[in-house]
Amino acid sequence: MKRFLDLNAVRYAYPGRSNADLDVDKDVVHSLSLHIAPGDFHCLIGRSGCGKTTLLKLAAGLLQPQAGAVTLQEEPVTGPNPDMGFVLQTPTLLEWLTVRDNVLLPITLHGKVQAAQHDKANELLDQLGLNGLHSRYPQQLSGGQQSRVAIARALITAPPMLFMDEPFASLDAITRSELQQDLLALCQSQGTSVLFITHDIAEAVYLANHVSVMHAGTICHQLAIHLPHPRQPALRYTTDFNACCAELRQAMDGKL
Ligand SMILES: Nc1ncnc2c1ncn2[C@@H]1O[C@H](COP(=O)(O)OP(=O)(O)OP(=O)(O)O)[C@@H](O)[C@H]1O
Ligand SMILES: [Mg+2]
Repeated sequence: MKRFLDLNAVRYAYPGRSNADLDVDKDVVHSLSLHIAPGDFHCLIGRSGCGKTTLLKLAAGLLQPQAGAVTLQEEPVTGPNPDMGFVLQTPTLLEWLTVRDNVLLPITLHGKVQAAQHDKANELLDQLGLNGLHSRYPQQLSGGQQSRVAIARALITAPPMLFMDEPFASLDAITRSELQQDLLALCQSQGTSVLFITHDIAEAVYLANHVSVMHAGTICHQLAIHLPHPRQPALRYTTDFNACCAELRQAMDGKL
């Protein structure tokens, strides 16, 4: 398999944690390896507290492993770099900037915005269903609309690698499925690789080419999802889709 993002035997313990606060030992991530191919949509599921966010932070260079290595296109990851975009669970928009200026923030942090980038921001916002709202401020938007702005902001630089930590967790089911569809279309058109954390097994199966199940700091099960692309909503009611969900559920229950 051609590799893009590579975690090799990565280990991590938060500073100051003693054995006393944990059942097993102090490592939150144990000698974990994970490989993501170019253009792969990789979902990570697992029970609360098993180490998913920690793993994502290690992969994105926001934390440094105490052992093992993380590489992006064979270069060591030592901190966040311009090839990476982030969408976290809370949209973290700047309330004094308009929607459009929030989307352009990754560019304004590094220099002047070109006309083409301005057009790109408008195009992304329209693609995400925010036409007519570009000049509003974040507090004038619903939670779902704010999440869309955060997605547009992560995609404005067309990063080859996108990290998403439960980005749709607070949304209603219909908005969520619309955003899943929009995200898949955008990632497909930009060839983006994605590491996506979710608690929702059906969301993972719908979005992913590969799903990893995490338990107590390790990957306990991996499943390649061989469902047809582009994903269509009716897929959710098929036997193949439900078989994938059932296998992942069993893995989460420790039965595989
Ligand atoms: N900054 C920190 N300092 C010390 N321990 C931490 C810190 N952040 C997380 N932990 C601990 O590390 C473990 C893994 O946390 P992490 O946030 O990676 O879990 P998670 O799988 O993302 O959970 P959730 O699904 O609830 O978001 C937990 O036991 C948590 O208490
Ligand atoms: Mg988390």
